[in-house]
This record gives sequence, C-alpha cells and structure tokens, in this order.
Amino acid sequence: MKGIVFSVLKEYAGNRYGDGGREVFKKATGLTSPLATFDYPDEKVMMAIRALAELSRKKPEEVLTDFGRYFVAESPLIQKTYAVYFNSARDPKNFLLKVDDIHVMITKTLPGATPPRFEYEDRGDELVVIYRSSRKLCQVLKGVLEGIGMRYNGRPLSWREEACMLHGAKACRVIVRF
Ligand code: HEM
Repeated sequence: MKGIVFSVLKEYAGNRYGDGGREVFKKATGLTSPLATFDYPDEKVMMAIRALAELSRKKPEEVLTDFGRYFVAESPLIQKTYAVYFNSARDPKNFLLKVDDIHVMITKTLPGATPPRFEYEDRGDELVVIYRSSRKLCQVLKGVLEGIGMRYNGRPLSWREEACMLHGAKACRVIVRF
C-alpha cells in the first residue's frame, strides 16, 4: 500500500487518539515519516489498525470504517493534496461516480499503486457501488461512503450491503441512497 495511506493513517492516529495513537502507530508500523510514493507492506496497515483498536477498545472493523470516514471527510492531507477532485464534483453522487477515474489517475502520480476498482449501477436516487480489490477492504469502503456525505452535506450517506467478498461474493455490492 502506498505511503500516502500510511501518512493519513498516522495523521488519523494522532487526531483521534492523541500522543497514545501516534506512539501506537510508530510501534506497530516502525514508520516515522512514510514516503507518499513508496510501497509498504499491506500487513502494516492491519498492524496499526489492530493496535489502535486495542488502544481504544474497539473492534478492528470499527477502526477501519472510522479511518475511511476520516480519510475522505476530515484528513487535511487528503483535502489539500486532492482538492481538485473534491472541487470538481458538485455533490456526493457526482463525486462517487468519479472515484474509479480518480483511482486510475492517482496511479500516474503514484506509479505501482494497485487501487481498488469500482463499477456503478445508477438507479436515480440509489447507486449500486460495486467494489473489487484483492485487499477486500470493504470496511474502509463503508466508512468512505459515509464520509462523502459528511464532506459535501454534513451528514453521512446511508448504505446497505447486497453482497460482500468477505462472505464469498466475487465483488462487494453496496447500495447507496442520496
Ligand atoms: C480524492 C479521493 C481519493 C483519493 C485521492 C484516493 C486515493 C487512494 C490511494 C492512493 C489508495 C492506495 C492505493 C495503493 O496503495 O495501491 C486508495 C485506496 C483505497 N481507496 Fe481511495 N482514494 C480516494 C477516494 C476514495 C473513495 C471515495 C473510495 C470509496 C468509495 C475509496 C476507496 C478506497 C479503498 C477501499 C482503498 C483501500 C485499498 C483497496 O481496497 O485495495 N477511495 N485510495
């Protein structure tokens, strides 16, 4: 996983859990200043998440989802670096429909990135988001979906899951309501 994700995770650890969070991140990942373009083992993400879950007495799944919310709705690093993507979308649905293109575009500035892929089925006031990734980080996806609503409208988007890779499906299908 690219260092930019670790930088946001480090930011998240400090923002949510203060000095304790910062220490736990450093101890779990061995990283002090991750390099945005560098590839670090995926396993280090889960080590940090598990350590933060232990610190906050939450389930790792809850921390993954909260990290997804933070990533898209709160992170100063993401808001600043990728302002152009946020500003070029007019509402949550419009932004969501651009997310596959955004991930493809980031592979140009972050060569070697292997981001998730998204497909969509547009039903008007509902959008089926189809997520595929060998990492199966759909718990992050759910937080990001909520965060998009927070970022644009100050309230989370509501979603329901139709199929999940963690339960044997080929792809995750999440129905988002606007
Ligand atoms: C400006 C907005 C966004 C940027 C710049 C961005 C960028 C990235 C980057 C750099 C990675 C790591 C890829 C790698 O290291 O191979 C990543 C992973 C991921 N992104 Fe995004 N992303 C954005 C928005 C979103 C949104 C809106 C969603 C969901 C709807 C999303 C879902 C995910 C997930 C679930 C991962 C984890 C990796 C995986 O599933 O394989 N991202 N993103």
